[in-house]
Amino acid sequence: MNDKQLVAVQAAQYVQSGMLVGLGTGSTANYFIEALAHRQRDEGLSITTVASSTVSAIKAQLFNLPIVALEHISSIDLYVDGADEITPDKTLLKGRGSDLVKEKLLAKAATQFIAVAEASKLVSHIGQNFSIPIEVMPFAWQLAKKNLEDIGGVGDLRPNAAKDGFWVTSHGSYVLEMSFDKNLDEHTLNARINNTPGVVEHGIFINLASTVLIAQESVIRELKR
Ligand code: 5RP
Repeated sequence: MNDKQLVAVQAAQYVQSGMLVGLGTGSTANYFIEALAHRQRDEGLSITTVASSTVSAIKAQLFNLPIVALEHISSIDLYVDGADEITPDKTLLKGRGSDLVKEKLLAKAATQFIAVAEASKLVSHIGQNFSIPIEVMPFAWQLAKKNLEDIGGVGDLRPNAAKDGFWVTSHGSYVLEMSFDKNLDEHTLNARINNTPGVVEHGIFINLASTVLIAQESVIRELKR
């Protein structure tokens, strides 16, 4: 098993019969969906799932996991998802994909949110390895970019895969990828981005992960809040 698979299998051990479980998006989250499906098949675990993306929903359906739509839930028991960066205080950077709005909704709705990752995701501050994905309403992108530049942001619209247009998220937003001064702490940055008109959501997840499972060379470390 590789490290991503190892933490995903470990996270699946937190699931108990009767739970409503949120499914994250990405390669580590995919391993979690598989591990959950194996527990359902082998142990008769009775669970319901809710997906953060179409890709995860399709994967859950393929593995016969019962699934409900996000609009039908008001809380969930457990959410498991990967991350792009994880700081010592368990702030996460997410949103390399197109689904960070649903990811944050599920992270917030969960009684317990377990972030799963390999040790390469550990950083000292948010933005160390990646720019911050900031979803904006398409018609607001230029004004939002200007306001983000006014608070020190540098960046531009995320291009699409063919590099002949712009990336559009699963609900039709553009994504600004912005870097900020590393001395700007994540709480201030979070508040300032939230205060920018036209911003739909962004990839900084503060005070949401209750547990972080980190795998390094087949050894799992559990960081609790
Ligand atoms: C998608 C995410 C992913 O969870 C994050 O990019 C990590 O992906 P992976 O598990 O493939 O390394 O935030 O929006």
